[in-house]
Amino acid sequence: MELLKVRGGNVLSGEIQVSGAKNSVLKLMAASVMCPGKYTITRVPGISDVYVMSDVLRELGAQVDFGDHTLSIDTTHADKYETPYELVKKMRASIAVLGPLLGRFGKAKVSMPGGCQIGERKLDLHFAALEHLGVEFEIEHGVVHANAPKGLHGGRVTLDFASVGATENFMMAAVLAKGTSVIDNAAREPEIVDLANFLNDMGAKISGAGSPVITIEGVEHKDLHSVDHETIGDRIEAGTLVVAGALCKGPVTVSGFKPEHLGLALQKISDMGLELDYHENGVTVKSDGKFKAIDVQTLPFPGFPTDLQAQLMVMASVADGNSIITENVFENRFMFAGELVRMGAEIRVDGHHALIQGVSGLSGAPVASTDLRGGASLVLAGLIADGETEVSGLKHIKRGYEHYSEKLQSLGADIELVKTDE
Ligand code: EPZ
Repeated sequence: MELLKVRGGNVLSGEIQVSGAKNSVLKLMAASVMCPGKYTITRVPGISDVYVMSDVLRELGAQVDFGDHTLSIDTTHADKYETPYELVKKMRASIAVLGPLLGRFGKAKVSMPGGCQIGERKLDLHFAALEHLGVEFEIEHGVVHANAPKGLHGGRVTLDFASVGATENFMMAAVLAKGTSVIDNAAREPEIVDLANFLNDMGAKISGAGSPVITIEGVEHKDLHSVDHETIGDRIEAGTLVVAGALCKGPVTVSGFKPEHLGLALQKISDMGLELDYHENGVTVKSDGKFKAIDVQTLPFPGFPTDLQAQLMVMASVADGNSIITENVFENRFMFAGELVRMGAEIRVDGHHALIQGVSGLSGAPVASTDLRGGASLVLAGLIADGETEVSGLKHIKRGYEHYSEKLQSLGADIELVKTDE
């Protein structure tokens, strides 16, 4: 088994470049199924989710080569519309092929991904939205059978919740529907905008991405063509590294992303009492390691991102006073708190609320990653804890962070990757 040994107390300083955005590139890969051809996607992070999505595309008949952060995808012979459970259960984001398969073939057979540590991860909003385009769904033995017997037609839907995945699947299917489609209460994440730009470069006609109302004018298959595209910077990795710089004093410059993609998040982090200098392509963070308590609630973009909730909780755990974090996006995203309590944090969870009473410091302990962001945040806690912290469950971290420990080491962190024989 592999684990990370983190020894706390070092000051971090220097500059670090983030990788391309996991939560964009997986959807760009899925979109390549919509139109046969050769695609080159650059700035692709070397993370396990990209390897799994590459296998999903291969199962659909595509050729996928990945090297030096560049994906070469050839979907010329991608003529299948079924994804196997063993791949889908590894990564629920593979549901992102649903919309593209419906657009390309008018049907799809995609295994239900099932829940994960942070929540049930239902798909009802995806189905409800796609039904407005003429898609019929049947679920049998854990497989989603989706069909548009009369072809896809334009439709208008208002989402109950601004679901990222439902917005993406609707948008991609609507590109090849006959007529115009509108999605209201759409997710507004920067990754949605990156996907819309990719699709428009392919010949789609999408407007309003990044706003709550997205309009898609259907086009014909012949109007689409393959494209080359550079993925946007990963704002969640950026936010994670900004918190590392804040916790360990800095100055740390995190570059390769758009600060406006983390608007409120950076505002809330700096409200805890640190200096943030904004640049066009990143930020520089500096702090004395002392933080003011804060109240934060997670919400769809442009609200505070749920994917930075655990990272903020580490700062709150050593802040001066009591902080309240409210998790509105996922129903079970506080498991990480239990591991932080093992390191001496004082946290009480009550449903969607966590009350964090700041303590003077954390102490190193063996801890286990519960999910991707929780795992990355346990390493952050280890950076300031007294003594040594052993973080296990690294497979979670590898899903979404490329060279995470190396990036922190390059800033001065005392982190060692250890292989144990158990
Ligand atoms: C995307 O997940 C991201 N994943 C998540 O990042 C991110 O936390 C989330 O958006 C919110 O920003 C990828 O992009 C691969 P949702 P997604 O649909 O699309 C409920 C990370 O750490 N819901 O916006 O699955 C759902 O259960 C990951 O990088 C329904 O109830 O998120 C959740 O509670 C974690 N029915 C909430 O909505 C549905 O049909 C938000 O889900 C769909 C969603």
